[in-house]
Amino acid sequence: MAETKTLALTNARIATMRRGGAPYGAIENAAILIEDGRIAWVGPTGEAPGAEETADLGGRWVTPGLIDCHTHIVHGGNRAREFELRLEGASYEEIARAGGGILSTVTATRAASVDELVASALPRLDHLLAEGVTTIEIKSGYGLDLETEVKMLQAARRLGAERDVEVQASLLAAHAVPPEFKGDPDGYVRLVTDQIIPAVRKAGLADAVDGFCEGIAFSPDQIRRVFEKASGVDLPVKLHAEQLSDLKGAVLAAQFNALSADHLEYLQEDGVRAMAAAGTVAVLLPGAFYTLREKQLPPVDLFRRHGIPIAIATDCNPGSSPVTSLLLMLNMAATLFRLTPEEALAGVTRNAARALGLADEIGTVQCGRRADLAIFDIETPAELAYRCGFNPLFAVLREGRWRKW
Ligand code: NIG
Ligand code: FE
Repeated sequence: MAETKTLALTNARIATMRRGGAPYGAIENAAILIEDGRIAWVGPTGEAPGAEETADLGGRWVTPGLIDCHTHIVHGGNRAREFELRLEGASYEEIARAGGGILSTVTATRAASVDELVASALPRLDHLLAEGVTTIEIKSGYGLDLETEVKMLQAARRLGAERDVEVQASLLAAHAVPPEFKGDPDGYVRLVTDQIIPAVRKAGLADAVDGFCEGIAFSPDQIRRVFEKASGVDLPVKLHAEQLSDLKGAVLAAQFNALSADHLEYLQEDGVRAMAAAGTVAVLLPGAFYTLREKQLPPVDLFRRHGIPIAIATDCNPGSSPVTSLLLMLNMAATLFRLTPEEALAGVTRNAARALGLADEIGTVQCGRRADLAIFDIETPAELAYRCGFNPLFAVLREGRWRKW
């Protein structure tokens, strides 16, 4: 049977998430016409053009498909033991310095095959998809050698083939200094710049290059070398910056026109200004803030004042954010960081798209954008952030087709 070419969604309420109009860019009594996987028309239900298939949404809310723009969902093992140690009083940094933390996940990830990495990530991915996620960013960074970084990125690409979701893959080889380079971080940075980035670029396995700029990871100088190489091979950059201290990572990221700087609890106004000038998105990760029981809040008011787009993500990882609910992150962004529910929803739609360099494709409901849509059984869009541990998803459209479960 030939595939349906046009689909009309009628009797919908749409949180278009376009800027400038009503809160949430909302339109009531609305319809969306979808043609060849794209949004072809948005307007009042009464004026909707005819379509080969029509779905009456009964007043349900439509949002852009949700976007989780920062995850480490591919990894071996888990760190429940470290969770216990932290409850006994050890800090995240102490555990990392004692060879636990990221490095214990490196050991487990190196030991896993691509198939095993895919199999262990799928249940986590399915949790996210069940809440309306249609695009996910996935980082490497638990390999820290060429072979395993490649293996993680292959697993990320495979996840995009096994499920109806768009995957954006980021090379995070500069996540930690591997044991074989202990005491020689510059030597490892040379491996990253001279071998890992070129090989990953050649194989087309990454869409961006990420790093971790922190006392327990890499200095701004070392990250600069990584970014120079990435820029030299035309890969955009992003950075884990100012999570535990202010090393001016965001200032550096902005110098390379980074797509995003992420975490940012310790960011100062100079970093905010640099990000504003470069158009760098602030990605906030309330799950890591919550899990590590951080006290220092990211400078949300400064972001607002300087017009910096704020995105929200799960940071799904086995150590600092074992989180597989993006809706819970909306709640935490509101409750912990005081974002409005509208800002939180923009953080997983319009601004998350921008953090991935995909603002022209996804993240808003408007003519010409890809028809990646989430449909929710809610009375107001604020409910998405208001509830905690509740999933009101009704259905998902991916590239204009109903997602099958
Ligand atoms: O985003 N900050 C560094 N990287 C991860 C944590 C990784 C881990 O603890 O395994 C993060 O929080
Ligand atoms: Fe992270």
